[in-house]
Amino acid sequence: MQEKANLARVKMRPHIKTHRTPAIAKLQVAMGAKGITVAKLGEAEVMAWEGLDDIFIANEIVGAVKLERLKALKRRIRSLAVGVDHPEQVIALSGAFSAEPVPLDVMIDVETGSPRTGVLSGEQALELARCICRMPGLRIRGIFTHDGHSYGAASIEIARRISRESQNKMIEMASLLRSSGINIEEVSIGSTPSLLLGGIERGVTEIRPGNYAFLDTNMAQFLGTYSRCAQAVLATVISRPTPVRVVLDVGTKTLNEGVQKGGITRAEGHGRLKEQPDIFLDKIYEEHASFDIPEGSDLQFGIGQKLEIIPNHACQTTNFYEVINGIRNGRVETTWSVSCQGKSQ
Ligand SMILES: Cc1ncc(COP(=O)(O)O)c(C=O)c1O
Repeated sequence: MQEKANLARVKMRPHIKTHRTPAIAKLQVAMGAKGITVAKLGEAEVMAWEGLDDIFIANEIVGAVKLERLKALKRRIRSLAVGVDHPEQVIALSGAFSAEPVPLDVMIDVETGSPRTGVLSGEQALELARCICRMPGLRIRGIFTHDGHSYGAASIEIARRISRESQNKMIEMASLLRSSGINIEEVSIGSTPSLLLGGIERGVTEIRPGNYAFLDTNMAQFLGTYSRCAQAVLATVISRPTPVRVVLDVGTKTLNEGVQKGGITRAEGHGRLKEQPDIFLDKIYEEHASFDIPEGSDLQFGIGQKLEIIPNHACQTTNFYEVINGIRNGRVETTWSVSCQGKSQ
């Protein structure tokens, strides 16, 4: 992904929600990332504490207590930006930052098809941009979008089209804002499916992929292979109640259900056996999950046997764990602390 950013001459600002691990964020920066993206103030605080000093919170930060924390964070690091999509957030941010020596950077959140946050039209963006420019304590840096609807695209071609259309909407919006005298430095885009499958259009300045760092069974559906999935949960066979049923000590508290509604990332079941990826967990409970040994198979699964499970959704799975063990050639080479575990406030 870094190579892709380099080739397109855009900045790479990976979303750390996937690993929540400062050591991995530092590796991403060492490989060329300009800074990091986070979703939560809590993640930003931990990352800042660990020395990551260029952070974009790609989310709306709301509430007096959070704004005080944001102010403290801004004083501590070299570069900080937050997302906005409504004048009320802008007014509140300005209230908190107007007496600060250095203005806070804000990025306008744009919806390009994934119905979550974000302004919908150029007119809305312009109105919000003008509001930001009038407000003391703030500086507009640019616009950003997350084309998360690429996950549910019915085909790879449609995912590519979603990516292209989303980027073009952003580029047009940036041009509208610039022609109205607004300084737009950054046009920031990205989701892993569209960045793995599609190109980066001219006019984009920054990409923010997250899941690419690990990949998972959802992504493997369109990649056509499980071999690029880096994350696995080490499970133990704890029961063999019938000749075919194999019960493991993982569940929705350790693996998550991670079921996509449809489209190119829709994986069957709740996770795959890394060594036999045609076998997936078809039942999941809080503390248990199971699969049936396929008919005609001579695979053996004994009580106590360890199995690596590739989760459906890597980003949610990470948050269950305090540490990640880095494995190479079957040996633990390093252990990283998932220091942002639970830091969702
Ligand atoms: C605002 C924002 N940017 C970037 C990303 C990264 O997307 P992905 O994990 O598909 O690369 C996300 C994911 O949820 C997001 O919400």
